[in-house]
Amino acid sequence: MTNNIAILGGGNIGTSLAKGLINSNLYSPENIIITRRRTHMIENLALEGMVISSDNLQAVKASGLVFLTVKPMQAKEVLGEITPELNHEKHILVSLVTGLGSKEIQAIIGEQIPVFLAMPNTALALCESMTCISHGEVQEKHKEEVINVFNHVGKCITIPEELMGASTVMAACGVAFALRFLRSIAQGGIEIGFGAELSTLIAAQTLKGAARLAQESGNHPEHEIDKVTTPMGITISGLNEMEHNGFSSALIKGLITSYNKIEKLKKLRD
Ligand SMILES: NC(=O)c1ccc[n+]([C@@H]2O[C@H](COP(=O)([O-])OP(=O)(O)OC[C@H]3O[C@@H](n4cnc5c(N)ncnc54)[C@H](OP(=O)(O)O)[C@@H]3O)[C@@H](O)[C@H]2O)c1
Repeated sequence: MTNNIAILGGGNIGTSLAKGLINSNLYSPENIIITRRRTHMIENLALEGMVISSDNLQAVKASGLVFLTVKPMQAKEVLGEITPELNHEKHILVSLVTGLGSKEIQAIIGEQIPVFLAMPNTALALCESMTCISHGEVQEKHKEEVINVFNHVGKCITIPEELMGASTVMAACGVAFALRFLRSIAQGGIEIGFGAELSTLIAAQTLKGAARLAQESGNHPEHEIDKVTTPMGITISGLNEMEHNGFSSALIKGLITSYNKIEKLKKLRD
């Protein structure tokens, strides 16, 4: 049994995963084989000791755990390409591809290969991803192996496959939503007196602290908000003004729009 892993698709999420696995010390760089067609774009990873390649078949042959991190439009072709090399006694396939179901994957690679769907985010590189995974009938040891990987690069939970789309919006798109929120706070900070750098620092650390307050207290966010909102005070007046302008509603509508788009794109691909 090999300790090597293959990451097929060395783009944003593939390279974030590779970096996270090294930063977490779960894998040594030489055990990570990462592929893309234009390998010159990931030469920095080779300098860190990883194996870079454009040969998906060879990468699968040399590995046990195989992560599929290409774009949805490219996924079926890559699955078809690697199928002759997949072996149910040796391989576990983990697909990070948005909108690609386990049935669609198994229709290409067969039902013998253990298949997991995983939806992390780009904070993988910092070992701060939120990753939701789902799987069908798989062996306990395979489940443990996959969960262990994602727990090393953040937090991992197992969910039913029908919630994978919702997890994509919350955890993967959620990074962009949170960063746009952060940017808005920072821009407001500039208008009331801070330079861009300090304003971004204050906004980012405040967001991080607020997230930890909710996460570690286990309290409903509104409970923590109550502690900050003095009657007739400055926080509640700002908060209510944001709500009058559709703050919560805009976020919820944005989430639902992203969610609906997954289905629309899936229909276009099929
Ligand atoms: N970005 C996120 O935050 C995020 C989060 C969760 C899940 N995902 C999912 O992860 C997948 C990748 O997203 P991404 O944002 O990382 O996209 P990306 O940056 O475009 O990465 C895709 C990579 O796949 C490579 N590729 C394409 N065809 C290939 C082939 N035949 N063999 C090997 N590599 C190939 C591309 O490089 P070449 O063109 O050089 O081959 C590219 O580097 C998507 O399915 C997305 O839904 C993304």
